[in-house]
Amino acid sequence: SNEREAMTNDLEKAISTIGVIGAGQMGSGIAQVAATAGFSVLLHDSDTAALGRAEGLISSSLRRLASKGLISQAAPDEAMKRLKLASSIQELCTADLVIEAIIESEAIKKTIFVQLDKILKPSAILASNTSSISITRLASATSRPSQVIGMHFMNPPPIMKLIEIVRGADTSDEVFATIKSLSERMGKIVICSQDYPGFIVNRILMPMINEAFHTLYTGVATKEDIDTGMKLGTNHPMGPLELADFIGLDVCLSILRVLHNGLGDDKYSPCPLLVQYVDAGRLGRKRGIGVYSYQ
Ligand code: CAA
Repeated sequence: SNEREAMTNDLEKAISTIGVIGAGQMGSGIAQVAATAGFSVLLHDSDTAALGRAEGLISSSLRRLASKGLISQAAPDEAMKRLKLASSIQELCTADLVIEAIIESEAIKKTIFVQLDKILKPSAILASNTSSISITRLASATSRPSQVIGMHFMNPPPIMKLIEIVRGADTSDEVFATIKSLSERMGKIVICSQDYPGFIVNRILMPMINEAFHTLYTGVATKEDIDTGMKLGTNHPMGPLELADFIGLDVCLSILRVLHNGLGDDKYSPCPLLVQYVDAGRLGRKRGIGVYSYQ
């Protein structure tokens, strides 16, 4: 209806400052995308060394994009001017929207949401970049469940076109419409998922990665042939084992466990080889070793 459209427009106009929590690969990428799209961004991490690293990563990524003509020559400086590093979460109190991108722990995310719920203005929207934790359960920790939503960016956020928006049980139509148009303003293509384990992308991706581990585990083929098979056989940019290393084997394992627990089907049971790699600390690219070695 016209009334709803007007409300959505007002809400969207009202979003000028975006807080991002977590200065890891996802959080810094999200902050970069938001600053490039013209928003004022407050990037918070309790680890100040991580904030410093994020600033460097963002600035070099912006320069790479500008050198390829994907953004204007002036865009990197402009975006960096709109980005502020915040060592205290209190500094995010002026944000109209906060996107949380910390580790995948429901307990820690809930603690952050409770804190944000207290310091943010009543109209502010709370979003989580979670890849698998229930938005409905995160929302239930706050006094504003209709203003809680999932914004699942793909890694690396500055390159990947997709954003998966997840509606919790109580997310309002207005908040959904606002976040959808804001995501489009960030240059993303939006897909919408209801709040069930793994949403859309990981519901389909993780069983494929798990099957690639089973294929390796049972000696059907070498890791190289499995990856080449999927790369050249189905035109994926990376093979499933290489992609698992890129995502992090610990992250893949934790998402598979969410699928297994939440959907209750043995087909989601993690491959013993994946479990063993994680036990051994072979977590993928970030550790220099996973399925492959990156030393
Ligand atoms: N910022 C700026 N530019 C970047 C960048 C970044 N963060 N990351 C990569 N690039 C650029 C590179 O400069 C390069 O540009 P040119 O080709 O013009 O030189 C280009 O992107 C390709 O990068 P590389 O040459 O380093 O490596 P590549 O060709 O292997 O591409 C990739 C890297 C874009 C990551 C590509 O391999 C790819 O698309 N892989 C699949 C990624 C994917 O599936 N992501 C989703 C994972 S699932 C997920 O995120 C959800 C979840 O919850 C687990």
